[in-house]
Amino acid sequence: MFESYLTLKAEYEIVPMQLQDCAEVAALHGERFSRVWEESEFQNLLSQNTTFGFVARQTNAILKKPLPGFVLARQAAGEAEILTVAVNAKLGRAGLGWRLMQAALREARNRGGETMFLEVDGGNQPAVGLYRKLGFETVGERKAYYVAENGAKSSALVMRRVLR
Ligand SMILES: CC(C)(COP(=O)(O)OP(=O)(O)OC[C@H]1O[C@@H](n2cnc3c(N)ncnc32)[C@H](O)[C@@H]1OP(=O)(O)O)[C@@H](O)C(=O)NCCC(=O)NCCS
Repeated sequence: MFESYLTLKAEYEIVPMQLQDCAEVAALHGERFSRVWEESEFQNLLSQNTTFGFVARQTNAILKKPLPGFVLARQAAGEAEILTVAVNAKLGRAGLGWRLMQAALREARNRGGETMFLEVDGGNQPAVGLYRKLGFETVGERKAYYVAENGAKSSALVMRRVLR
């Protein structure tokens, strides 16, 4: 039995983000982005009825684990927007970003969204790769918008995907 615990493959579910998730969401955001968003910022955003989010949770964890991932999005007047998305660095490339984004796309569509937009650092290969794989196309570029600590500059890309 102990052996089966050791070989247990982690399984995840994607569930709507709740106000009580916001502390863990803010902690993961702080790990993955240089600009910190407070728990209260997430709570304020999530309290607006145009905003929605999803979190990934491990369904077969024996001990409580850090939050695997989340996505936060907004949808108004037919246009949806990804506000932020992140996956725990230890769980990268396991399909969680894809599943979180699919949940956000589905919810935006259910709310009557026709297109979804997002903005991404063109140098962020994992994110750009994920969005392209999901069918997003670059519709705008602001050159040299982001400046890294080492002075390297990269473009901000505006990407769009039709939802219908
Ligand atoms: C971007 C991010 C959410 C991707 O999450 P993830 O769970 O690792 O992504 P997935 O496993 O679902 O990967 C889906 C696709 O994204 C692309 N991708 C993911 N990681 C990649 C990497 N390291 N390099 C290149 N492409 C990558 C691939 O196309 C991948 O499909 P494949 O594995 O079949 O080739 C995650 O890297 C992250 O949290 N990054 C830090 C925060 C961030 O930059 N957020 C986006 C801000 S706009």
